[in-house]
Amino acid sequence: DQAKKKYLENLYQINREAAFFYMKNLSREKGPLLYLENRGVGRETILKYGLGYAPLRKKDLCEHLLSLGYKLNEIEDCNLVFINQTSGEASDRFKNRIIFPIINSRGRVIGFGGRQFNSDYGPKYLNSRDTPIFHKGNNLYGLNIIQQKKNRDRIILVEGYMDVIALGSVGIYDAVASLGTALTKDQGQLLKKYGQEVFVCYDGDEAGIRATKRAINILFSVGIKAKIICLKDGMDPDDFIKSHGPDAFELEVKRAKDAIEYLIEDLKKNFTLDSAEGKIGFLKEVSKLLRGVQSPVERDIYIDQVSRNYQISRESLKAEIESGQAKKN
Ligand code: GTP
Ligand code: MN
Ligand code: MN
Ligand code: MN
Ligand code: MN
Repeated sequence: DQAKKKYLENLYQINREAAFFYMKNLSREKGPLLYLENRGVGRETILKYGLGYAPLRKKDLCEHLLSLGYKLNEIEDCNLVFINQTSGEASDRFKNRIIFPIINSRGRVIGFGGRQFNSDYGPKYLNSRDTPIFHKGNNLYGLNIIQQKKNRDRIILVEGYMDVIALGSVGIYDAVASLGTALTKDQGQLLKKYGQEVFVCYDGDEAGIRATKRAINILFSVGIKAKIICLKDGMDPDDFIKSHGPDAFELEVKRAKDAIEYLIEDLKKNFTLDSAEGKIGFLKEVSKLLRGVQSPVERDIYIDQVSRNYQISRESLKAEIESGQAKKN
C-alpha cells in the first residue's frame, strides 16, 4: 500500500545519501585512498563503483542523515546504525572501513560492504544485514555495471568485491560476486537472466574449490551449464590480474573447463589410478556423475572422453552407468 511504498522509498533514499556521504569522505582521507591506490584502484574506478570511506568517529553518518531530516528508526532499518538498548545511544555500523555500495540493476543502493584497511578490528569485511530492501541471497554485487553492457554473452561469477573491481579496472565488465555467502538458488536464477554462459571463477584455494562444487550444483539445478576457471597458486581474480594482466585472464577464460570435466578432474584426486582398485573406484564415481547428465548426446560425449582418457571400453562404462540407474528405479 501507499504507506509501505513511501517507507521503502525512504530507505532507498537514505542508502543513497549514505553512499554520497561515504564517497565524499573518501576524497578527503589519505589513508584509505592510499590503500586503494596500492591495490591498483585508481580514481576512475573509485568513481565508477562509487567506493567510499566510513569515518572512524562514532556516529558521523547518523548525525549527517538526521540533519537531512531522515528518521532515526528508518536509518536503523537500513542497518546503517544500531541503537544501544540500555543507553539509547546511536552508533554507525560501518566505522573506519572502505565502503563498497551494493547497487541493484535499477541503479539503487540497497546495501553496503565495508573492508578494514588499517586495523584488525572486527572481521575483514562487514556487510549490511538483510533489510526490507536488501536480501543477500537474491542479489549479486556488480549487477549495475554489467547492466550497462549491451552485448552480454557471458558472465563471470567471482567471490569478492575486489575481484569484480579488479576485472572492471582492466575493462572486463562481465563479473558479478555472490556477496560472500555460498551461491543460492535465487542468485542462480538471477544469473540465468543475465548471461548465456556462466564462468565460475572463485578463488583457487581450498574454500574456493569447495564453493565451486556447490555452485556447479546450484547452477545445474537452474539449468545453467557452467564453465569453470581454475586459477593456480590459490590466486583470486584480483591477484591474477595484478600478476598476469587481462590478456592472460582472457586466456584462462578460453581454457575454462566444462563443469563435468572439472568434477571428473576433481574426483581423480581421491584415487590412485595406477592400481586396479583405485581405477575401479574412480570409474564408479565417474559413472555416478555421468548418470546425472540428462542429455543423451552430452552424456555420450563424456563417455567417449572418459573411455579414451582412462582406457576403459565405452560399453562397460555405459553398463556401469545404467546399472546404477536400474538400482535407483
Ligand atoms: P581482499 O582480501 O580485499 O582481496 O578480499 P577478497 O574478496 O579476496 O576476500 P576473500 O576471498 O577472503 O572473501 C571473498 C568475499 O567473501 C569478500 O569479498 C566478502 O564479500 C566475503 N568476506 C570475506 N571475509 C569476510 C568476513 O570476514 N566477513 C564477511 N561477512 N564476509 C567476508
Ligand atoms: Mn557475508
Ligand atoms: Mn576466498
Ligand atoms: Mn579472494
Ligand atoms: Mn582478494
